[in-house]
Amino acid sequence: MARKRLVSGMRTTGSLHLGHLLGTLENWVRLQDEFDCFFFAAVWHAFTDRLKIDDLPSVIEEMVIDWLSVGLDPAKAVIFRQSSLWQHAELSTILGMYTPLGWLERCPTFKDEVRDDETRAQVSLGKLVYPVLMTADVAVYKAEVVPVGRDQLPHLELAREILRRFNAQIAPIFPEPKEMLSEVPLLLGIDNRKMSKSYGNAIELRETPDTLKQKIHLMITDPQRVRRHDPGRPEVCTVYAWHRIFTPDRLDEIAQGCRTAGIGCRDCKAILFERLEHRLAPIRERRLALEKQPGLVRDVLAAGERRAHEVAEATMVEVRRALGFLA
Ligand code: TRP
Ligand code: SF4
Repeated sequence: MARKRLVSGMRTTGSLHLGHLLGTLENWVRLQDEFDCFFFAAVWHAFTDRLKIDDLPSVIEEMVIDWLSVGLDPAKAVIFRQSSLWQHAELSTILGMYTPLGWLERCPTFKDEVRDDETRAQVSLGKLVYPVLMTADVAVYKAEVVPVGRDQLPHLELAREILRRFNAQIAPIFPEPKEMLSEVPLLLGIDNRKMSKSYGNAIELRETPDTLKQKIHLMITDPQRVRRHDPGRPEVCTVYAWHRIFTPDRLDEIAQGCRTAGIGCRDCKAILFERLEHRLAPIRERRLALEKQPGLVRDVLAAGERRAHEVAEATMVEVRRALGFLA
């Protein structure tokens, strides 16, 4: 039986961190064995809230290297750049005609950001049509399955409505894409705020053992544990929140040790270091091997883009025909 088609994208907003690994990448790696996967760098989407991206080619290259180093396999999944496939833009323009403005203005990801006239003056049209482009990303490959985080659900809902409308008005070309939610534990940054490269609080996939150690050293613990013999409260500690995810087999021991001052924060952080290093070391090793192959990313993208082009162009021929653009 043919495998179902699956499409997902990741915006090119900077180097990848543990949040991406847990939330998205480990999932993608599993899915590439079960589905006909298309994974792309959502380059245009990355521009919806910034005017330029410095040295974009390196940003893309590093992202693709990160993908490969966690185990995405170009022999299994199609890997490409959105910005190399004009069919995404063509379909987005067309689907925009089937998208009432109200749907986009009511979309929570837009509405919550654009509250007043001042932000209205700043926010781009690109931001408004973000869900339309995302619909096109998925539909141009006739994807049935779309792995996304919870924050993307409104976009998937909109995608189905837009495609339903097109299918009813023009021709039943597109399947209705279903989201595949990855239930991921919330991983906060080392300062207990949302993990983000721009806050400088992320643990990146590219950490060396030294930088990893430094970042763990900076992690906020229970402020009441001033001295070694002060008992602590694991439930207010960032290090413990990370242990919940990375050290589930020793949680009781750690919580108990913290509350009774049986272990110190230094010991506690050493355990976390070991766990994270255990996850990051194989990724680092694979990346070093990949970086020794010059032209690898270029070749992977070239092959991926050839394949993506084949599929996307076939869909667009159908669309152009159905609309009467082709005789
Ligand atoms: N909007 C997605 C995100 O920020 C990225 C994305 C763009 C995407 N196009 C997509 C995800 C198509 C899935 C399918 O996470
Ligand atoms: Fe946090 Fe561990 Fe220190 Fe307790 S012992 S405060 S859990 S770092």
